[in-house]
Amino acid sequence: MAKEVILTGVRSNAELTLGNLLGAILPLVRLQQQYSGEYQINAFMPDLHSITTPTNYEQLFYRTIDTLRFFEAAGLKLDDPNTLIYRQSYIPAHSELTWILDSFIYYGELSRMTQFKEKSQGQKSVSASLFNYPALMAADILLYDASYVPVGEDQRQHLELTREVAMRMNSRFGNLFVIPKAWDEQVKFNKTGVRIRSLKNPQFKMSKSISDPSGTILLLDNPKEASNKILAATTDSLGNVNYDFKNQPGISNLLQIIATIKNQPIEEIAQYWKGETSYSKLKQAAAELVESVLVEIQTNLKLFSRDEAISVLAKHEFKVRDIANMKLASVQSSVGLRLKNS
Ligand code: TYM
Repeated sequence: MAKEVILTGVRSNAELTLGNLLGAILPLVRLQQQYSGEYQINAFMPDLHSITTPTNYEQLFYRTIDTLRFFEAAGLKLDDPNTLIYRQSYIPAHSELTWILDSFIYYGELSRMTQFKEKSQGQKSVSASLFNYPALMAADILLYDASYVPVGEDQRQHLELTREVAMRMNSRFGNLFVIPKAWDEQVKFNKTGVRIRSLKNPQFKMSKSISDPSGTILLLDNPKEASNKILAATTDSLGNVNYDFKNQPGISNLLQIIATIKNQPIEEIAQYWKGETSYSKLKQAAAELVESVLVEIQTNLKLFSRDEAISVLAKHEFKVRDIANMKLASVQSSVGLRLKNS
């Protein structure tokens, strides 16, 4: 029987942040360490998603390559026989499946997506592709019959929509797609579901799309400066460490950062720090961890060139295209675009 698929993607619309590292890249690396052999792992760069909002088009190509380099620098083994790595736009079946799925996703469903509402708010012009973003994401997942999709909490709604359209099409056409697991099961599986917050405005997530330099740590930040951003993080005046995102979002964010880097359950870390009255001790601990993670990643990054990354991608993409085309063909014949078995 085919192995179950674990799949995730990280856009390269802007420089990667600590949020991407702790919410997506490190969880995938750890899944590979723990489960490769048992599962098929797909890590890809959704470059078509990267242009749904205006970006630096001159830099996009190499940013996409650099995203792969970050995966590698964080520990992803690229020669693992059960791991596939590719760029979305190099596999045309993603775009073609999107159009088909679009015909089974409702306008009302796309209009309800919180991320679309947030990203389009206050913009003079909003691209049709931003609206359509979740359909492309559903195609990314369903094309490979992925069961597990480790993503940050901000992507939960998109995952739910993916499940919805897969179930809708399965009930109309028979078992076309594997239904990805529901969010709660995903989180249980990869023990994450983290949402790293801005260090300045911890009620918001740390985001590469929002300009918030003192609240955001970029993976290419000078490690010492990054550590200073942690030391200057907004906290509160309660003077007592508790893991309580509602009342102490800044402190809880630091606990979350520590837990994710150390790969320990948040409950354990929260218990360890519970009742500590010196916020500076907690900040110091988080700052040291972040600094050392950045030093390690930046050192590894230099050892893996863009040329090497491009040649690894080309090899993987050659294989992936066939896998994706086979799945696309079965969907095309189910919806009447091709004769069955042609
Ligand atoms: P992107 O590039 O916006 O985010 C990539 C991953 O990083 C996570 N993330 C965070 N996690 C925790 N805290 C944060 N502050 C934070 N910021 C970002 C995101 O949740 C995500 O897991 N739409 C996807 C890309 C995508 C995708 C897919 C993912 C396209 N198709 C198919 C999985 C499967 C996204 O948000 O990318």
